[in-house]
Amino acid sequence: MGVAMPSADVRLVRKDFPILQRRGDGQPLVYLDNAATTHKPQSVIDRVSRYYAEEHGNVRRGVHRLAAAATDAYEEARATVGGFLNAPDSREVIFVRGATEAINLVAHTFGRAHIGRGDEILISEMEHHSNIVPWQMCCQETGGRLRVIPVTDAGELRMDAFAALLTDRVRLVAVTHVANALGSINPIADIIRIAHAHGVPVLIDGAQAVAHMPVDVQALDCDFYVFSGHKIYGPTGIGVLYGRSGLLEQMPPYQGGGGMISDVTFDGTGYAEPPHRFEAGTPHVAGAVGLAEALRYLGSIGFDQVQAHEQELLAYGADALSRIPGLRLIGEARDRAGILAFVIDGVHAHDVATVLDSAGVAVRAGHHCCQPLMTRLGVPATVRASFAVYNTRDDIDALVDALHDAWSVFA
Ligand SMILES: Cc1ncc(COP(=O)(O)O)c(C=O)c1O
Repeated sequence: MGVAMPSADVRLVRKDFPILQRRGDGQPLVYLDNAATTHKPQSVIDRVSRYYAEEHGNVRRGVHRLAAAATDAYEEARATVGGFLNAPDSREVIFVRGATEAINLVAHTFGRAHIGRGDEILISEMEHHSNIVPWQMCCQETGGRLRVIPVTDAGELRMDAFAALLTDRVRLVAVTHVANALGSINPIADIIRIAHAHGVPVLIDGAQAVAHMPVDVQALDCDFYVFSGHKIYGPTGIGVLYGRSGLLEQMPPYQGGGGMISDVTFDGTGYAEPPHRFEAGTPHVAGAVGLAEALRYLGSIGFDQVQAHEQELLAYGADALSRIPGLRLIGEARDRAGILAFVIDGVHAHDVATVLDSAGVAVRAGHHCCQPLMTRLGVPATVRASFAVYNTRDDIDALVDALHDAWSVFA
């Protein structure tokens, strides 16, 4: 990991984000809800706008020059994402709406092809609902069973339990890379290695990881990796499913329509090869182009700097928060990405977030789409502050000051 970014560099990064220049009610925006969604640098906003102003046409289906320009831009975006993940072949990159759609796609297609009565899908107790509910629906349709890897009180996966649950009935392991409610970084390389030793493919939910650490699907030997563009400085409505070619080729289509066929008659339809087999209809071309620009933007800063900066904020924030009376941090995994979740004795998380909002500090409060995890940890809700590359120690100081004020309101 590199050296923390000098504060002058963070100030330059902040200048790239127009929304951070805004002042609401005379207060600067202190945005600490990056795990929910990140803001967009000007280069991404400009790229999307230039696409519509100069290059927009429909992809894959026209001979005129705008159709060709749009197709080129879209396929270049696919290659950029492939490079970002170090995919062996960019045809293993499928554009979808986001992590949620990517998981639903795998649940419907891989699930339909490979899960039968009595087969098992292994997920973990720290999953986001979008890596729980699609598998429950898959099990309802196929007669499969969902099994759950438990977590420790600190918010780490119980690897001993994982090994014990990995029986010959398991057909897929689906776990998160970074837990959105805790920040725990899971040992996904070990998980993949152990699952593969049993012949079981693995899906990694990278929604909370990709903006914070490099991901190399070849080094990981990963079968499926999913993420959303809006959590990595890109547009909403665009996301990625990476799938190993050998698996994608065996999977039936997700949705039917234009663009996913090789030939159609009223007697039957032949399907296109991946990735187009899984991209029915007009795709979100502007989103894909904007996402590629976001990945270039992040690459221009570099993950060494990003990780060092965010880890420094995490350590600074954890120390500052632990000094607040009545505050308890939730999630103390040894390996964590930039998320700090906490509860305050006797005060509901929503009330804390409301008081923070009136001080101009944006955090998330609630169950974070992780109700089973909240039940496991014995808390109805938490407050979550989550960091991005543009956050500073000043943002954390503002959070801590506002919490001290909130404490005097509630005490
Ligand atoms: C770990 C995790 N997985 C999946 C998702 C779903 O992402 P999206 O709503 O962009 O599809 C989220 C969103 O918060 C998440 O944190």
